[in-house]
Amino acid sequence: VEPDAAWREEVLRLAKERDAVILAHNYQLPEIQDIAHHTGDSLALSRIAAQSDASTIIFCGVHFMAETAKILSPDKTVLIPDERAGCSLADSITGEQLREWKAQYPNAVVVSYVNTTAEVKAETDICCTSSNAVDVVRSIPADREVLFLPDQFLGAHVKRETGRENMHIWAGECHVHAGINGPELAERAADNPEADLFIHPECGCATSALYLAGEGIVPAEKVKILSTGDMVVAARSTKAKSVLVATEIGMLHQLRKAAPEIDFRAVNDRASCTYMKMITPAALLRCVRDGLDEVHVDLETARKAQGAVQRMIEIGQ
Ligand code: 13P
Ligand code: SF4
Repeated sequence: VEPDAAWREEVLRLAKERDAVILAHNYQLPEIQDIAHHTGDSLALSRIAAQSDASTIIFCGVHFMAETAKILSPDKTVLIPDERAGCSLADSITGEQLREWKAQYPNAVVVSYVNTTAEVKAETDICCTSSNAVDVVRSIPADREVLFLPDQFLGAHVKRETGRENMHIWAGECHVHAGINGPELAERAADNPEADLFIHPECGCATSALYLAGEGIVPAEKVKILSTGDMVVAARSTKAKSVLVATEIGMLHQLRKAAPEIDFRAVNDRASCTYMKMITPAALLRCVRDGLDEVHVDLETARKAQGAVQRMIEIGQ
């Protein structure tokens, strides 16, 4: 299937026929981002999914994102073009492991990144995404212990920002972001001294970026730790002529659209998420045509997870 004009027309016609809204995460293939009714980060897309009037949501992203939409709107049909699109970070903690961790800290508030399974969300007090993780943790009274999971790098970022000592962090990671490392970032920054650094907090290099700023190797105002949605906002306002981007490479497409005059370069151009890229033009066409794959969340699990996800979409901008 070629992502040509005929494909576009057919996908949009079938989506309309199904009363479906197509959502795409910023890491999707460019042609998928371009055909979607809305493209954005995980928080923005969850909010759109919750508010949409459409009876069907087609989620071009990974499975936990579609599951989150289903938890928020159990009466809607939620489809994902390929249900095998998983997430290594979501796989880094199971419901059973979380129950064991909670038993060690019975009074702690559990904050889970949205990159988790529905079963883990059902054991969670508040979910967060990378754009509101700091606000979510700040919303918890200072004397309460926090269990933050599953991403260790996002957890370290939140701990630094909030200065909170009573925060325990799960040692999970996303294989794509963990692979964007400090030495590689330092090398790119040295070669491009004028560039801004846009760094996703899931990256292994986030701490190194702050180190570079702290040592005066890169001016501190050039180092920005941002969610994918906030990167697009920052691209529109920066004065920099070039930007080094540390996140999954699908992000470059929205950044280049937002600010065509800026030279955006990946810190690691091999940082591609194979799960995100399973949503191909052919898979999307099959999805709108045949109504596959449908995402189901067991009703009891969805009921238990709903409060935590609802709190997530209410906190932060
Ligand atoms: P955001 O879109 O919230 O920045 O999330 C990034 C991510 O890794 C999703 O898988
Ligand atoms: Fe999961 Fe990482 Fe892929 Fe995002 S980039 S979907 S966190 S594996």
